[in-house]
Amino acid sequence: MRVMERAYQHLLVDLSDRVAIIRLNRPEVLNALNLALVDELVDTLERLDRDDAVRCIVLTGNERAFAAGADIMEMAEAGVVEMKRRNQFRVWDRIRWITKPIIAAVNGYALGGGCELAMACDLIIAGENARFGQPEVNLGVMPGAGGTQRLTRLVGKARALEILLTGDPITAEEAYRIGLVNRVVPTEACLDEALRLARRIAEKPPMAVRLIKEAVYKALDTTLQDGMEYERNCFYLLFATEDKAEGMRAFLEKRRPSFKGR
Ligand code: HXC
Repeated sequence: MRVMERAYQHLLVDLSDRVAIIRLNRPEVLNALNLALVDELVDTLERLDRDDAVRCIVLTGNERAFAAGADIMEMAEAGVVEMKRRNQFRVWDRIRWITKPIIAAVNGYALGGGCELAMACDLIIAGENARFGQPEVNLGVMPGAGGTQRLTRLVGKARALEILLTGDPITAEEAYRIGLVNRVVPTEACLDEALRLARRIAEKPPMAVRLIKEAVYKALDTTLQDGMEYERNCFYLLFATEDKAEGMRAFLEKRRPSFKGR
């Protein structure tokens, strides 16, 4: 495993088998997401997205917390003018444009902004001890980074409203039952399971992976007919890649393909 040469304030970043691993690293406050952490995280995601050595990204915390939400210390004294001036969600919006798959490996608390961050990832592997929730209502506010929008699209109106209005966390099992997470594994196996999945994806042709991700997000944003046309154009585009030629040739020659990302 290569530790990526660069100084991080709130993250630990490694690269192994074309998979980058980002660990949120403010354990003393359960990885509360302060402004500096989110800036650093998004800058890092964008840098890894441009790095040809990286094909998939795993985002994780520690056994106690993925992230217990936005840093309440930073918000406690802030008024509306200050919050508007900070414009802190602009940086969150940039996560949407990361082209490589991001897998969240979630143990412990994923609350508020922590749950929103997990939902901003493409896939979620949960450890048995994971707890997902949107407790903002208990603080007199509401989610601001997708809690009402992504959660509703993922689990439907009734379940989203119950989670949002009560502020009560749900277990990993419940999160799996309602379709919020891909699978639940023993807590100690969570990161390994996410890495296993990431390595499988990292073996696939990168341009096909990228366009599949793009087309699925398009499905959430557009009509069926427009989405179908978008999909078709992505499909045609892949016929310009060397990896398409290699993939089909390898099939016909009954051997494993070797994809180059071209
Ligand atoms: C700042 C936090 C924090 C947070 C925990 N800590 N969550 N600090 N912001 N969101 C700090 C605690 O103050 C404490 O610091 C240390 O982490 C350990 O937490 P404890 O509360 O002592 O642990 P525990 O009793 O195990 O309770 C865990 C917990 C609780 C249930 C997760 O910490 C909690 O309810 N946290 C807040 C969760 C929340 O409301 N999140 C939503 C935030 S609003 P000290 O110094 O005392 O040891 C939000 C808006 C999103 O996310 C907007 C988009 C970004």
